[in-house]
Amino acid sequence: MKGIRVLVVGLIFSLLLSTLAFAGLSGKLEIFSWWTAGGEAEGLNALFNIYHKLYPDVKIINATVAGGAGTNAKAVLKTRMLGGDPPDSFQVHAGHELIDTWVKTGFMEPVTFLYKEEGWDKVMPPGILNIVKYKGDYWSVPVNIHRANVLWYSKAVFEKYNITPPKTFDDFFAVCEKLKSKGVVPIVMGTKDGWEAGHVFETFLIGTLGAEGYKGLWTGKTKWSDKRVTEALMLFDKMLNYVNSDHSALTWDEAGQYLIQGKGAMMIMGDWTNGWFMAKKFDGYGWTLAPGNEGIFDALSDSFGLPKGCKHRDNVIAWLKVLGSKEGQKEFNMRKGSIPARTDVDMSDFNEYLQSCAKDWNKDKIVPSVIHGAAASEGWATEYKDAIALFVAKRNVMKTQKALIMAAEDAGVDQ
Ligand code: GAL
Repeated sequence: MKGIRVLVVGLIFSLLLSTLAFAGLSGKLEIFSWWTAGGEAEGLNALFNIYHKLYPDVKIINATVAGGAGTNAKAVLKTRMLGGDPPDSFQVHAGHELIDTWVKTGFMEPVTFLYKEEGWDKVMPPGILNIVKYKGDYWSVPVNIHRANVLWYSKAVFEKYNITPPKTFDDFFAVCEKLKSKGVVPIVMGTKDGWEAGHVFETFLIGTLGAEGYKGLWTGKTKWSDKRVTEALMLFDKMLNYVNSDHSALTWDEAGQYLIQGKGAMMIMGDWTNGWFMAKKFDGYGWTLAPGNEGIFDALSDSFGLPKGCKHRDNVIAWLKVLGSKEGQKEFNMRKGSIPARTDVDMSDFNEYLQSCAKDWNKDKIVPSVIHGAAASEGWATEYKDAIALFVAKRNVMKTQKALIMAAEDAGVDQ
């Protein structure tokens, strides 16, 4: 009898304690992102699950707007932000997209206090910290590091035709020719959302200009009239001869199906493709880098911040803590197909690709992705993206190079 009483009192006590611990955190938390594809959605859900366990009384609203690279989401976000209706927290690329679009314009609150409390500045690398920093403050919490310049291939197709992964542009086109003669689509690509060609093209720029030359494009050190830009356009034009003919009807992941089915052989895309393959339970893929990209890591990072005037500020702070935590970074990135922004996460449960990627991050030259918000302000990145999307349709090298020169000039970078 006494034992039961003690048990009941104990139960009531622990119930009370847990209520107290979560007191104050209730209401809603609206998280805005474009993570709807396989891998992306799983990663986001893993974060929601951790949050939900810690704060069961908070109702999470998953406000996603589908469309890779945020092409659709960014427009919706802009309308909401300018209309004074910010989501509680939103996905934003670290670097120019965060700083130029939202920080310099006064839409965000600094989160430096969280970096101090949680010690994040000691566990994240300078390359990441520097791009979420402005005027001495931190403005968002990076959840990952993605690599954009990966060439994925079907192992079955490569084995069948005895192909070794290409490294140079010459190797690459020799492989394309061979595959074409066998009736396999050499390169799968989806260009439906308008950004995918720009994504592949930035890896071609890296391939012809090298790390320093490519970085210089965004600072004015390399001119867009450079003959290596012309060369990249010509190579890109040549590549278009080997792409699936229905590319304009497909998104990046829809195009990826060709690779899974063995109808297509290669795909240049960021390593969210790795997360997508995992979500599709497909492991017949291999990887190398886009042609000429050896030793170079084309990087981007997804982050979340604290918009001024968000409706559930305390809930957002708790959310940001989950994002920056070891557990959050591990559970998210294992599914998302990216490596953690923290350097102290145990990677032993990560797949082989991610383990090799983490090694490369530490030894390769890092360059910023333009299509994914790291290299240039949004206006410039958009002009770049549109020029390349038009190139896919018109394939005019000279006109496109002129448009790229103009885009740099519009951004105030003398040419
Ligand atoms: C990128 C984003 C990635 C991934 C990809 C495809 O811009 O940083 O996390 O979602 O788009 O949607």
